[in-house]
Formats: sequence, C-alpha cells, structure tokens
Amino acid sequence: MSTDNIIDGKAFAAGLRERVGSEAAQIKQAHGLVPGLAVVLVGDDPASAVYVRNKGEQTREAGMQSFEHRLAADTPEANVLALVAQLNTDDAVHGILVQLPLPDQIDEQKVLSAINPDKDVDGFHVTNVGRLWTGGDALVPCTPYGCILMLKDRLGDLSGKRAIVVGRSNIVGKPMAALLLAESCTVTIAHSRTKDLAQRCRESDIVIAAVGRPEMIKGDWVSPGATVIDVGINRVDAPEKGLKEDGSPKTKLVGDVDFSEAAEVAGAITPVPGGVGPMTIACLLRNTLVAACRQNGIEPPAI
Ligand code: GUN
Repeated sequence: MSTDNIIDGKAFAAGLRERVGSEAAQIKQAHGLVPGLAVVLVGDDPASAVYVRNKGEQTREAGMQSFEHRLAADTPEANVLALVAQLNTDDAVHGILVQLPLPDQIDEQKVLSAINPDKDVDGFHVTNVGRLWTGGDALVPCTPYGCILMLKDRLGDLSGKRAIVVGRSNIVGKPMAALLLAESCTVTIAHSRTKDLAQRCRESDIVIAAVGRPEMIKGDWVSPGATVIDVGINRVDAPEKGLKEDGSPKTKLVGDVDFSEAAEVAGAITPVPGGVGPMTIACLLRNTLVAACRQNGIEPPAI
C-alpha cells in the first residue's frame, strides 16, 4: 500500500507550532506582549493530567507563558468559579482553558459560561458559538479548526465540496459543520441514528468522523479519492499484542474509521494516532496568540 495519501498530523502540527512561535516572538519584539494561557485541571484523571502537562510544555516552547492550576477532585464548584473570575481579570492571562471532563459536583456549563468569551480559547462559550455561526470574530474550537487547516492544506479551496460530519457533539461535530459551511462546503450533519449513513458518506468528497465508535466507518463507505479526517480516539483490546501483567489483553488506540480499509480508497486520510490529535494543542496555541492580540488592539496574524 502506498502511504502518499496518509496525512502526517504530527509533522503538520509541529509546523503550525513553529509558525505560532515565530509570530509570538515578533509580537513580543514589536509590542512587548507575551501571550499567557491558564489551564485549570480539577481532579486526577490520568489522561487529563497528560494533556495538561503537554499543553504547558508546548505553550512554553512557543515562547508563551503557561499558568497551571491543579485543584483537588472534591473542589466545590464555587471555588472553580472564583478561580475563573480571578483569571478573567488577570491581564497576564489571555486564554483560559478548563480541562474537561469536570467532577460530578461541578456544573460544566456553568463553569464554561463564566469564562470571559474573549479569553475562551476552547471556543466553547455560547458567545463564541454564536459568533462562529454568524460569521463574527469567534475563538474557534481547536480540534475542528485543526481539521480545516489540514483539509485546506491538502485540497486548497473547499468551496462547493460535499462534506459529511458524522457526529454532532458541541466540541467537534457542530463547530466542524459551521466551519465547513463558512468554507462554502455543502454540509451534511450525520450521527449514529442517520438512515443510510454508508450511502451518505459515499456521496461525500470529505468525510469527518467524530462519532466515538471504534472503526465504524468502513472502506466501502468512502468514495474513491475522498478525503477522510478521523477525529475518533477509542481505546480497544488488542489481543494480538499479547497480555498485560494482570492477564488482560493489551490495548491500542483506533479511530472511528477502519483505517486499513479506508486508506485503500481515500485520496487522503488521517491516521489514529498521529493525525488530528497533535493538531489540537497547536491550534490552542494559535487561539491564545489570537486572543492576546485582540485583547491588546493588535491585528492577529493569519494562521
Ligand atoms: N478534554 C479533552 N479535550 C479537551 C479540549 O479540547 N478542551 C478542554 N477544555 N477539555 C478537553
């Protein structure tokens, strides 16, 4: 199998981080402004802890300031809201990210709504959702924005293309659809209950898989030459890798697309891992830079 059609998200993300870093250096030199990103982690979920550590490292590598706030799993909602309020008024903090999921005692929507929309580098605040759908200056959710950058890199102008988004989450599916629409695609939003889903995918030039079901999208759902972006990250048993010390099967990460089948027909496809995943933090850094510029009356760089 040729690998020319595999999109290297790791390399693409490294390039984007480098561009953000060099723009940040120029802005520091011209304006004395150092963008700052605050990340709030409540609890000790190991996967979230890894994300937060990577965010901090990559923020510093891009020449920006990283502020990390780790709170105990039983922190009351009021304390999280008080921290967000404090970060909203801190002039060194231009972006605020509260790592999800939050523990059960905390109302996620309440916390996200408390973030100043201009510092909402996740793009989850309803004000940014509204700006995105109405063509305003939104901060755009990072994962969908990363997908758009990869699509434009491969395909150039997306206008007129038939795109299907499989998945309707607030974090990926819905903003992805809005961004594709803004690029003048003809957009179908599909999900686990869509009738004739395979056929709807087959009719599409672009397939975005964000449904959270391991390897659901098969090779014969993909039209020859179509571009497939797999946002899924699913951990599944991999008995072929042998057993763990406790006797249970080892595991592996797979996407929402059956990669080996789809890679035979797709014009371009992202793998899991190493596709969309690395783009998310790179886009977070980009959003932090954009937010810092806007808060200081500086025209943000076009990245
Ligand atoms: N948890 C997993 N992904 C994300 C993300 O993109 N943003 C936040 N805030 N939490 C997450």
